[in-house]
Amino acid sequence: MPAIRVQNLSKEYVIGGRPRAHETFREMLADAFLSPYRRYRRLGGDASREERFFALKDVSFEIAPGEVVGIIGRNGAGKSTLLKVLSGITEPTAGRVELTGRTSSLLEVGTGFHQDLTGRENIFLNGALLGMSQAEIREKFDDIVAFSEVEKFLDTPVKHYSSGMYVRLAFAVAAHLEPEILIVDEVLSVGDAKFQQKCLGKMEDAARSGRTVLLVSHNMTAVRSLCSRAIWLDSGSIVMDGDAGAVSAAYLESNAKIALEQIWENPDTAPGNDRIRIHRVSIGPDGEGSTGGLSVATPLRLAFEFWNRAPSAQLNLSMVLYDIHNVCIFNSFSEPRPYPEGLVRGICHIPGNLLNDAKYRVRLLIVEDTSVPLVDLDSLAFFEIRETERPGKWYGKWVGVIRPRLEWETECLSPIGK
Ligand SMILES: Nc1ncnc2c1ncn2[C@@H]1O[C@H](COP(=O)(O)OP(=O)(O)OP(=O)(O)O)[C@@H](O)[C@H]1O
Ligand SMILES: [Mg+2]
Repeated sequence: MPAIRVQNLSKEYVIGGRPRAHETFREMLADAFLSPYRRYRRLGGDASREERFFALKDVSFEIAPGEVVGIIGRNGAGKSTLLKVLSGITEPTAGRVELTGRTSSLLEVGTGFHQDLTGRENIFLNGALLGMSQAEIREKFDDIVAFSEVEKFLDTPVKHYSSGMYVRLAFAVAAHLEPEILIVDEVLSVGDAKFQQKCLGKMEDAARSGRTVLLVSHNMTAVRSLCSRAIWLDSGSIVMDGDAGAVSAAYLESNAKIALEQIWENPDTAPGNDRIRIHRVSIGPDGEGSTGGLSVATPLRLAFEFWNRAPSAQLNLSMVLYDIHNVCIFNSFSEPRPYPEGLVRGICHIPGNLLNDAKYRVRLLIVEDTSVPLVDLDSLAFFEIRETERPGKWYGKWVGVIRPRLEWETECLSPIGK
């Protein structure tokens, strides 16, 4: 019997008009915690005109017990909606879902916890919702608190928690109540690197001990390392369902718009954090007067500009290049040195006749003391190298992840008959 069975599932939302009555008690709780922004953004505009659209359209799949499955897709694809239906937070419009096993879910910040209750009370409330006895919850209590690292705030209402603290506690609760099915939405986007690592470890444990795990993530590296299978959703429908490596590669390729220059104008919202923010990335031919496309023979210049707010740190840029199958082509980094506070540029030169004709993804890390990544941008840029004019008569695909032009020597060692 599958752990999760989803049959012809659809979820229709009505935008505009009056908010409808809450369908379930859990949805009411969840809605009460959503920030006003989220709620009113959807309700803005002409309130008399209702617009309907499907956040999920005829979705069907089955997940076997013990499978670890990643749900991937662009913003608004319907991933969270799917998890909400599976967790019973919202009712489907059509179709059905069946879950066999005790289920625990960690959805977006705002769901699952009662804002006016303290951390301690929420732990017990969540356990009770999972059908656990007080004694069972008490047994897990210390582990949850230790994992979450919010001990000092246990008796503070969670509405005073920072989003990081909130997610720590929510993840700790979801993971420690020993569910048979663990459903996790995008936990890796919140919290610091150390906590993300802890969460990944915990999900690996859950997977190894045979639990069924369903996780939504935008981080393809995490999906590939944790999941055996991935389901790619777009506009509410399944685009692809299969091996995690293959599905994530197809997804990345579909996203691989060839952006040769990208600029983030706002130093407060650009990718990065309060020490480092990316300003601009550009990829073009190296050398003066070179224009036009990037071919196999073209030397490349990759420029990365960032705002540095870590003036005393020894920094180096580290670039990792991948192909669309996520094969790592190479990693190259700059000399570590301190930079003054301000806009900093690093340029990497890739010689011509090294890369093959293919699409590439650029990951950039900015590293402190050659050991601590301050930022790690998995898919900072994409570019494509095109075929050059080839001598000879062979026009087939030139195989290989790289295509260096190497020196050859050929000679005839002993001519016959001389
Ligand atoms: N309560 C709601 N009322 C109306 N529309 C909604 C509601 N919740 C979600 N939507 C819409 O449904 C669509 C799917 O949203 P969903 O949150 O499932 O996307 P997602 O794949 O999780 O995206 P992200 O990667 O940004 O988290 C979006 O267009 C969203 O705006
Ligand atoms: Mg979501």
